[in-house]
Amino acid sequence: MAWGLLGPREAERIWTRHILNSIALAPRVPDGSRVVDVGSGAGLPGVPLAILRPDLRVTLLDSLARRSEFLQLAVAELGLAERVQVVRARAEEHRSQYEVVVSRAVAPLTRLVPWCSPLLASTGRMVALKGESAGDELAQAQPILRRLALDGSVRELEVPLLGETTWAVEVWRR
Ligand SMILES: C[S@@+](CC[C@H](N)C(=O)[O-])C[C@H]1O[C@@H](n2cnc3c(N)ncnc32)[C@H](O)[C@@H]1O
Repeated sequence: MAWGLLGPREAERIWTRHILNSIALAPRVPDGSRVVDVGSGAGLPGVPLAILRPDLRVTLLDSLARRSEFLQLAVAELGLAERVQVVRARAEEHRSQYEVVVSRAVAPLTRLVPWCSPLLASTGRMVALKGESAGDELAQAQPILRRLALDGSVRELEVPLLGETTWAVEVWRR
């Protein structure tokens, strides 16, 4: 069955552009964390992260039924069901807290931060993969961070095996 979750040209760059890019954030996730992947889509970055890091418990959150159905099947097929759960919900309506809130290609920080900050445990952090737009997005989100008593910073990340660099924005409670 074709799920139509990736664009027509994406299959050939699934490893480089999607999977390796996703696991670039792994060093920013502390051992044993409870992690939520907001807007997980086809499972990025949550599924590669969960495979790479058996110490993590991961929730894959997406608002669309079709995507959460795909994720349920993928989690079962990959034998991850003991520590990876799928939740169909909008981030802003989800009511749990996590040590790490990851995301990739979901929304600009100005929208993502208000959605994700209630999901942060008191010592939790958001890690949003942003690529080259990280610095600009963080600058635009500064008024929102101040209003919500949050701090943020851009982190440079190495994309494993490719020798490339990407960037994430991290956000935490003051
Ligand atoms: C462009 S896709 C990116 C998917 C994946 N993170 C990736 O990197 O390929 C954005 C995803 O975010 C989901 N999404 C958008 N707004 C959301 C919200 N408020 N709460 C939960 N999921 C949301 C969409 O359903 C979609 O699957």
